[in-house]
Amino acid sequence: MDARERLRELSDFAAPWAVWIAATLRLPDHLASGALTAGELASRAGADPDALERLLRYLVARGVFAEADGGYANTPVSELLLDESGWRSWFDLDGPPGIWAESWTRLLPAVRSGSPGRDEGWYYDELARTGRGAAFDAAMAMQSERDGAEMAAADDWDGVEHVVDVGGGTGALLRRLLAARPHLRGTLFDLPQVVAGAAPADRLAIVAGDLFGDPLPHGDVYVLSRVLHGWPDGVAAEILARCATAGGETARILLVETVLREEPSADHASFDLFMLTLVGGRERTEDDFRRLGESCGLALRSVRQLSSGASLLELGA
Ligand SMILES: C[S@@+](CC[C@H](N)C(=O)[O-])C[C@H]1O[C@@H](n2cnc3c(N)ncnc32)[C@H](O)[C@@H]1O
Repeated sequence: MDARERLRELSDFAAPWAVWIAATLRLPDHLASGALTAGELASRAGADPDALERLLRYLVARGVFAEADGGYANTPVSELLLDESGWRSWFDLDGPPGIWAESWTRLLPAVRSGSPGRDEGWYYDELARTGRGAAFDAAMAMQSERDGAEMAAADDWDGVEHVVDVGGGTGALLRRLLAARPHLRGTLFDLPQVVAGAAPADRLAIVAGDLFGDPLPHGDVYVLSRVLHGWPDGVAAEILARCATAGGETARILLVETVLREEPSADHASFDLFMLTLVGGRERTEDDFRRLGESCGLALRSVRQLSSGASLLELGA
C-alpha cells in the first residue's frame, strides 16, 4: 500500500461508522441462517432498503460482508459481531458506544486545550440519563470477572480480612475474589444507580455512595479496577489519597489498569486518546503510576501482568 492509499484508509470516516451501524442493526445476526437481499435485511433490521444496500456495498468492498446468492452473507469478520460472541455490545450505538462515538468530536478541542471541556463525572450522569448504565456495567463486569479470578489465585491474601472495591461496578471482580477466598469479606462501593444492579452475596456488603463526597469504609485492601484511567492526574491522586486515608498506614491499594509501555501499541495509544476525549482521563506508564502514588505518600510496590492485558499494581504507604 502506498502512502496515499494508507492516508485514505486511515482518514476514512465511513469504516468505523459502517461497522458500528452494522452491529447496531444486528445485520450479522439477521444473516446467521443464510444470505439475504438488502430488501429482506432492511425489513428485518428496520432500515431503509436503498440506504442499507449502500452501506452493505461499502462493507462488502471492505471485506466485512460478502455477496452471495444475489444477496449478502456473513464473513469471519462480521461473525465476530454476532450477539452470542459477546462483542456486539461494544459496538451498539444504541448503548454506551453511542456516547463514546459522540465524544470523539471532542478530540480536537481536547488536543488544543488538554481537556474535552466537560464537567468531571459527566459520563456517568449521561449513562444514567440515557438509560445505558446497565449495559455499561454488564460490559465492564465481563472484563473484570476474569481479573478477579486471577487476583484471587495470587498468593497474597493471608492476613487480609476486608477488601473494599471502590468504583467496583456491580461487583463481578469482588464476587470472584470472595468465592475463591472464603476468609475474606468485601465491600462494594459505587454510585447508587450502579450498585442497584448488584446481586447480594455472602460476606459482601454493598454501599451506595460518591467516592468524592462520602466517606469510604475502612479496609485492609482497596481495589481500584479501571477507575484511575478515567480521571486526570489531580483527581486520580485525590482518589488514591481518599483510599489511603480510609485504610490507614497498613492498607494496600491494588490497581487494575493498562500500563503503557515505552513504545505503546496502537491499541493502547488509541485507548489513551479515547480516555482523553471521553472523560479527560489517561492511560499511564509504570513511572506515571509511581509518581502518582508518591504524590500522595504511597510507594509502588509491585506490577504484575494479568492475562486480560491489564496489569495489577500494588501501592502502599
Ligand atoms: C470504568 S468503570 C470500572 C468498574 C469496575 N471497577 C470494573 O473494573 O469493572 C468505573 C466505575 O467507577 C464508578 N464511579 C464513577 N464515579 C464515581 C463516583 N463519584 N463515586 C463512586 N463510583 C464512581 C462508575 O460507576 C463505574 O462503575
